[in-house]
Amino acid sequence: MKIRTLDTGEHRAALDLFHDSLHQPPVADRDWSSLSESLEPGGVRGAFRDDRLIAMHQCVPSDIVVPGGELVPLSVQFRFAVRAGHTRRGVGTTLMTAALRATPEPLAVVRPSEGGVYGRFGFGVATRCRDLVIDRRRAVLAAEVPSGGDTYVPVPGEAAGLCGEVYGHTRSRPGSIGRRPWYEQLMDRDLSAAGLFPRIVVHTGSDGPDGIVRYSVRGTGGGATARTVLDVDEMHWRTPRAWLGLWRFLLGVELVDEIRLRSRPLDEPVEWLFTDPRVCRVTDVRDEVWLRTVDVLAALRARTYGDGGSVVMDVHDPVLPDNSGHYLVGADEVCRTREPAQLTLSVNSLAAIYLGGVRPSALAAAGGVVALDSTALSTADRLFRTDTEPWCGTYI
Ligand SMILES: CC(C)(COP(=O)(O)OP(=O)(O)OC[C@H]1O[C@@H](n2cnc3c(N)ncnc32)[C@H](O)[C@@H]1OP(=O)(O)O)[C@@H](O)C(=O)NCCC(=O)NCCS
Repeated sequence: MKIRTLDTGEHRAALDLFHDSLHQPPVADRDWSSLSESLEPGGVRGAFRDDRLIAMHQCVPSDIVVPGGELVPLSVQFRFAVRAGHTRRGVGTTLMTAALRATPEPLAVVRPSEGGVYGRFGFGVATRCRDLVIDRRRAVLAAEVPSGGDTYVPVPGEAAGLCGEVYGHTRSRPGSIGRRPWYEQLMDRDLSAAGLFPRIVVHTGSDGPDGIVRYSVRGTGGGATARTVLDVDEMHWRTPRAWLGLWRFLLGVELVDEIRLRSRPLDEPVEWLFTDPRVCRVTDVRDEVWLRTVDVLAALRARTYGDGGSVVMDVHDPVLPDNSGHYLVGADEVCRTREPAQLTLSVNSLAAIYLGGVRPSALAAAGGVVALDSTALSTADRLFRTDTEPWCGTYI
């Protein structure tokens, strides 16, 4: 099997292979011009057997906010597929291993459609999210909820690119990644292919737009079970005032029975807005972003740590063995060390604790971290702790 970077002339065949692996038809001519932009030159790898393309893997360079606020170079990995008839024979493992070995960024992420694929490559669940349904007819805002600021609905011509622009202004949480310029166009295409008519509402603060929501309204069910649902597919905000302004707008949209929100941060205090918190139901909680520390030392040095002394961790990384070894981690110093380890963990567990999404002691209870010293777990909890839940909020 041969692995190499594909030329742009080979991108369409690779995308067809990817679509086929998801049981979708080949790319239609009318869609190719918008989709081709998303296959960035130099970012698509293929595996060949007897000169036939049998697998693809794509990555794009980006950045990610880590605890402390630093923007760290990131490889976003996606469109990973092996041609039907060639799966489960090691092709995917060979291709992904080659891609990780060639990744120059210290961190990589995937947003997998299957949860069982990426653990073996050293990725771990670093952010999680939840889906909400609001019973809009029963939802009454509590008296103490502040007013929020001004919102406006841009005319269609003004709306192009606005989600990405405002998203860019609101990025502060650990886990938020840089958005590609072509992403919005793909989202618009998918929404209109699904027959939806998306609307955008912008919140303006003292220094311009600081919040945005995009939603579509659709009917579900029929007869006595007919419901009108307002589906929020994007909502980003920088200040609580912007968040409140957007919520007041959404709750005021007429003729709506339910408001549904997908993939929201775990600590967004929606249920606290209402006199009856049960009008807000959590319908799902799941993994959002899987992270990989491609260069463990650089990744550990990029984030800040809470006060709490230091800890020596023995990290195991069978896929990128140069990462394996002992690391001293403290608020003042992060380095490789020969000191005896106090904690041992896989590179997957390191990814899970890295953005603050789970405490080392919680992972230890599940076996993901092993403590060799009685105080090390509480020290690690203090070091890796963050004030907000990590969350990404975009795909690419
Ligand atoms: C997922 C995929 C890229 C893996 O490539 P592959 O060549 O089949 O994988 P490998 O043969 O190298 O197998 C690696 C391991 O992953 C496992 N695996 C493969 N696909 C899996 C899946 N969907 N869920 C769970 N495990 C999976 C294999 O069983 C194997 O496990 P083992 O090492 O314990 O035996 C390929 O199966 C594929 O294209 N599937 C359809 C599209 C898809 O699901 N893409 C991933 C989007 S997240």
